[in-house]
Amino acid sequence: MDFRKKVVYQAYPKSFNDSNGDGIGDLRGIIEKLPYLKELGVDVVWFNPFFPSPQNDNGYDISDYKAIDPMFGTMADFEELVAKMKELDMEIMLDMVLNHTSTEHEWFQKALAGDQKYQDYYILRPAQTDGSLPTNWESKFGGPAWAEFGDTDLYYMHLFDKTQADLNWRNTAVRKEAASIVNFWIDKGVTGFRFDVINLIGKDEELVDADDGVGKYLYTDKPIVHEYLRELNERTFGRINSITVGEMSSTSIENCILYTRPDRHELSMTFNFHHLKVDYENGEKWSLTPYRFDELTNLLHTWNEEMSEGNGWNAWFWNNHDQPRALTRFMDDDKYRVESAKLLATAIHLNRGTPFVYQGEEIGMTDPYFEELSEYRDVESLNYYEIMREQGKSHEEAMAIIKSKSRDNSRTPMQWSGEEGAGFTTGTPWLPIAKNYVEINVEKELAEGSIFKYYQELIRLRKENDTIAFGDYTAYARNHEDVYAFVRRHEDEEWLILNNFKGHDTTIELEDKWLEAQVALDNYDNQVAISKELQLRPFEAVALQLKK
Ligand code: GLC
Ligand code: CA
Repeated sequence: MDFRKKVVYQAYPKSFNDSNGDGIGDLRGIIEKLPYLKELGVDVVWFNPFFPSPQNDNGYDISDYKAIDPMFGTMADFEELVAKMKELDMEIMLDMVLNHTSTEHEWFQKALAGDQKYQDYYILRPAQTDGSLPTNWESKFGGPAWAEFGDTDLYYMHLFDKTQADLNWRNTAVRKEAASIVNFWIDKGVTGFRFDVINLIGKDEELVDADDGVGKYLYTDKPIVHEYLRELNERTFGRINSITVGEMSSTSIENCILYTRPDRHELSMTFNFHHLKVDYENGEKWSLTPYRFDELTNLLHTWNEEMSEGNGWNAWFWNNHDQPRALTRFMDDDKYRVESAKLLATAIHLNRGTPFVYQGEEIGMTDPYFEELSEYRDVESLNYYEIMREQGKSHEEAMAIIKSKSRDNSRTPMQWSGEEGAGFTTGTPWLPIAKNYVEINVEKELAEGSIFKYYQELIRLRKENDTIAFGDYTAYARNHEDVYAFVRRHEDEEWLILNNFKGHDTTIELEDKWLEAQVALDNYDNQVAISKELQLRPFEAVALQLKK
C-alpha cells in the first residue's frame, strides 16, 4: 500500500497497558491490546523508546540501543509483538534517538574512562580562553548546553538533559553505529522508524557563541543533515519498503521539502511543531496566553500549500507525548468534548499528509488537571518549575503554567475502563491517572460513544478515497475568523473541508459550485443544510464532496 494511505497510531508504552501490576505499561500489555488497534483501523504503530535507559527523560536517554529494557519486557516479548502485528497486517515503527545517548551508555562510560576512540563519539570542548563554557548555547530543558566531562578540563555538549550527551555525527564511526542500530531492528522485522530530533545532528566542527544566547540557529537544519540522512537511508531503511518520519525541531518548510521529496531519498515525512506554538507568548512555551486562531490557520495553510507545491510530505498531529492534549488546549473539553474531538480529527485526517493518532485521542481523553507539583514526573516540567520560581513567579503562577504546558498532560495512563486503575494497571500507576477515567474510557466509548467510530470512518476514507490520500491542497476562506477550511483536489473530484473551531454558530460563504456537493461527513448527527451562506454549529466539522 502507498504509504500515503496509511494512518499511524502512537502508543506511549509506559502508559499504554500494564500486564504485571507494577504500574508501568509493558510489551505484553501492548500485545493484549493489538486487536483494539486493529479494530480502529490503523496501519502502523509507533512506540516511544522501550530500550534500556535510566529513564531521566522517559527512555529518550538510551543506554543500549539493541536491547529491551527489562521494565518493558524481554526480546522474546518484542519478537512476539512483531509476529502478532505481522499477522494482523500492522507495521511497527520504532523511535530512534540518534542525536544523543544516555551518559550511562557504554560509549560514554568508555569515553569518560579515557578511551580516545569513544571520546570522538561525543562533542567535547575546552572552556573558552576567558574561562566561560565552550559556547553560550542553552539546553532545551533549561540551563547551559554543556556539562563538565568527568574530572578533565573538557565539557560535553547536551542539547537536552545533562544525562543526554550529544553524539558527534561528523565522526564516520558514529554514523556507522547509527546504521548498525537501524539495521539491527530491520532484521527483527521493523519497517517503520521515527527519528528523534534528527535535524539537530549536524553540528559544525567549529562551535561559536550565539548572538541570541540560545544557539538554535547554529545547530538546526544544517545542510550536512541532508547528507547524513541520505547516507543512512542508503545503508538502512532505503533497502526495504519502509515508512519513516523525522522529528524536526524549529524547522522550515524549505528544509522539510528537501527532507521528504521522494527523489531526495531522505525520509517519508516530517513532523514540525509550528502549529502547536500558537499559545506561546513571544516564542516562550512557559507562559499562559490564549491561543491565536489566525496564526494557527495561517500556519496550517502555508505549510500545506507549500509542501503540496514543493512535493514534500507532512506528518500531521495534534497530540503526542510532548504536548498537552489539544482537546483541552484549543477546544472545549467539557460541554463540546465529543464534537471538539471529532473536529480535531477531521482537520487532520482529511488533510494532505499522514495523520498520527496519539493514544486516547480516539476516545476523547483530556488533560488530567493535576493540582500538586508532586503529581508531575517530567524532567522538563520539574526543571522549569524551579526556573520560574527563580524568575520570581509565585508557586500558584508557576503551577498554573505547568498545569497547562506540562508534557505529563498527555503521558497519563490510557483509560481502558471505569474500574480502579482504569483497566491500565492493578498496581500504582507510575503517573497518576486522570480522574475523569470513570466517564471517559475505552469500554464506555465502544459501548455507547461515537468518537472511536468517527475515527474508524476517517481512517477508512483515506484508504478508499484517492483525493483524501493524494489530492493537492488549497486554502479556502483563508482569513475566516472561526473556520479552518481547505479544498482537496485530485483528478475529477474535489472536497471542501470546513471546521468551525469556535464554540458559537458561524457562517461561511460557499462558492456556487459547492451547492451541488454531497455532505460526505458531519460531526453532528443531523447533517448541515447546504446553502450559499452555510451555517455551522459550535465545533462543527463538515466535509463536502464534489464529483465533476
Ligand atoms: C524529542 C522527544 C522528547 C525528548 C527529546 C529528547 O523531542 O519527543 O520526548 O525529550 O526529543 O530526546
Ligand atoms: Ca508492567
